[in-house]
Amino acid sequence: MSQLLITGGAGFIGSHTCLVLLEAGHRLVVLDDFSNSSPEALRRVQELAGPLAGPRLQLIEGDLRSPADLAQAFAAAPIEAVVHFAGLKAVGESVADPLRYWDVNLSGSRALLAAMVQVGCRTIVFSSSATLYGSPESVPIAETARVAPVNPYGYSKAAVEQMLADVCASEPGWRVARLRYFNPVGAHPSGRIGEDPGGIPNNLFPFLSQVAVGRRPSLQVFGSDWPTADGTGVRDYIHVMDLADGHRAALEVLMAEPPQLLTLNLGSGRGQSVLEVVAAFERACGSPVPYDLVPRRPGDVAATVADPSLAERRLAWRTQRDLEAICRDGWAWQSANPQGYGPRGD
Ligand SMILES: NC(=O)c1ccc[n+]([C@@H]2O[C@H](COP(=O)([O-])OP(=O)(O)OC[C@H]3O[C@@H](n4cnc5c(N)ncnc54)[C@H](O)[C@@H]3O)[C@@H](O)[C@H]2O)c1
Repeated sequence: MSQLLITGGAGFIGSHTCLVLLEAGHRLVVLDDFSNSSPEALRRVQELAGPLAGPRLQLIEGDLRSPADLAQAFAAAPIEAVVHFAGLKAVGESVADPLRYWDVNLSGSRALLAAMVQVGCRTIVFSSSATLYGSPESVPIAETARVAPVNPYGYSKAAVEQMLADVCASEPGWRVARLRYFNPVGAHPSGRIGEDPGGIPNNLFPFLSQVAVGRRPSLQVFGSDWPTADGTGVRDYIHVMDLADGHRAALEVLMAEPPQLLTLNLGSGRGQSVLEVVAAFERACGSPVPYDLVPRRPGDVAATVADPSLAERRLAWRTQRDLEAICRDGWAWQSANPQGYGPRGD
């Protein structure tokens, strides 16, 4: 059992990972400012973990960028390792408001690393993103592919990755995993926790499920003339519970092995088109989902698919859940919680 700090633990990926880590026996301090999440998510994580494991999660409501809030989080318990989810993640928003993205994602991560140095904690798992590959030269994409972001969000992830490499090079003893997620989707099979984006969703899955549940009239499919089998964009969708398991595995490897810098793709290795996803979702929810084919969005790419073989070798981990499970679990969450966790004032 380890004592872990989870930044952004109330968010979509963070909440599912908190549950997996509690079930694995760890004690958690969650630091979250609820700027894009609800305390209700953590309450449900504790409920799902049960009366024995649930109380092992402690919440500090605070901002990653605040040294005082970070000091409070590190004072709550002797932290052995950090899982760093907190950050902003909407590509379009990052184009409109880049300074906010540099502030939260870069300055927030810098403040976190400075606090870690102060308390002598040298183990961190960081949420990176396949976005930093930009327009890949070929698929599947291995970790050796060029890092070439095409938007401020991607640049902020690449910059934090570099900052992590720099601290590793500055002194021995750092244990760092930079996990490059492909497209995290789905929900816990109980339907109690899931993705609850504020405002209009940016990504296919939450949009699709909100259309299916009647919150939005129809899905917009951006581009039907891509060089793919059916003309729609192809992505590598990874069930959020598989992703959560990947974090548990990465932490175990970091803590068991000598200090190192690990850089791993977390994806399924399978590409699925938008229309394939729509069809699978229709099977899961049992009714047609209206959609409109509209022009491509600037900055989108035809296909991104992970080569996950390095993560499979290094973590003895691979995805277990397919698109049918993703849609079934995603629908269980959305149909039981049509308004997500409830109003958040946005
Ligand atoms: N969801 C995806 O498609 C995806 C893909 C690749 C990478 N990622 C990365 O994974 C991480 C988690 O993503 P998610 O989908 O769970 O996002 P999310 O928005 O659901 O979770 C982020 C959490 O961080 C919190 N947060 C934001 N700014 C904060 C601050 N200044 N101080 C404290 N807490 C703060 C939010 O309230 C939220 O609970 C992010 O870093 C994101 O960039 C996500």
